[in-house]
Amino acid sequence: MRLVNVGFQPSTNFFWNERANSLENQVTKPIKDHSEMGFSGENGAPTFNDLLLKLSDTDYYQVLFNHIYGDALITEERLQECLSQFVLSIQSFDSRYDDGLLATGDPGPAFPNYNMSENRGKFLFTTTPDNGGAGCVSCHVPPEFAIKNNIHNNGVIATIADPNVFDHDNTRSPSLRDLENPEGFINGPLMHNGSFNTLLEMVEHYNSIDMTNQQLLDPLLFDSVGPNGPIGQQLQLSESDKTALINFLKTLTGNDIYTNPKWSDPFVD
Ligand code: HEC
Repeated sequence: MRLVNVGFQPSTNFFWNERANSLENQVTKPIKDHSEMGFSGENGAPTFNDLLLKLSDTDYYQVLFNHIYGDALITEERLQECLSQFVLSIQSFDSRYDDGLLATGDPGPAFPNYNMSENRGKFLFTTTPDNGGAGCVSCHVPPEFAIKNNIHNNGVIATIADPNVFDHDNTRSPSLRDLENPEGFINGPLMHNGSFNTLLEMVEHYNSIDMTNQQLLDPLLFDSVGPNGPIGQQLQLSESDKTALINFLKTLTGNDIYTNPKWSDPFVD
């Protein structure tokens, strides 16, 4: 998941299925995960304690921990504190959306720095389907484009390992800021299973939601409820409206997080 503006999300749960109940709890889980960073202790892999010993034996960490805590002791709790503080520092507020909001002081009206398509996309994003929009705003809330608490899934249910096995528990999305980098490359693939490689594939999903195998689709994504149960949302967006929605999403990308040296690799000049 992208880590931008994590500190401004209403949810304090992390991971797609919200299995970590705080950022501190989240940050060391990928280190211990056997298929991620591997300090799992499984099948002869090093343990988390091996990592703590390795860090304690590294000169510059002794200096840095001493500087922060007054002694050089490295514990999981201290790593959690330091890593989560670093993640919270990753903030982006220099997108064209931010410029537009600053200029108008109101997210509603057309932004003067947007072209017609971008303003149309903003309207579609922030307006419910009943009122001619795409309803994204009901779950992804501006100005952070953070996901709301207490929603069900969005219909993307296939698991990575086996597309015929379904997982209905993914209810968390990162902020929709920085879906693409300033050069227009996607910071993806998108969704918990990486199933969409382009913004258009993602928009097509929401445009027409297939009810096959759905169990916990959020009712916000029902078109209606027929005699045989709910019917998935059919937005019937025109091609130019799909493009407008995508053009709007591209305005949520900033520059600073890609160029500011404070988030660069400290070991490379
Ligand atoms: C009912 C709530 C809901 C609505 C409405 C909704 N989404 Fe989502 N969205 C989610 C959830 C939950 C996820 C994470 C799902 C997953 O990965 O399985 C998500 C994920 C995404 C992602 C992927 C983020 C990433 O980093 O991989 C994008 C992009 C997105 N939504 C855009 C939209 C757009 C555009 C709309 C409107 C057309 C929209 N969403 C409407 C709930 C919603």
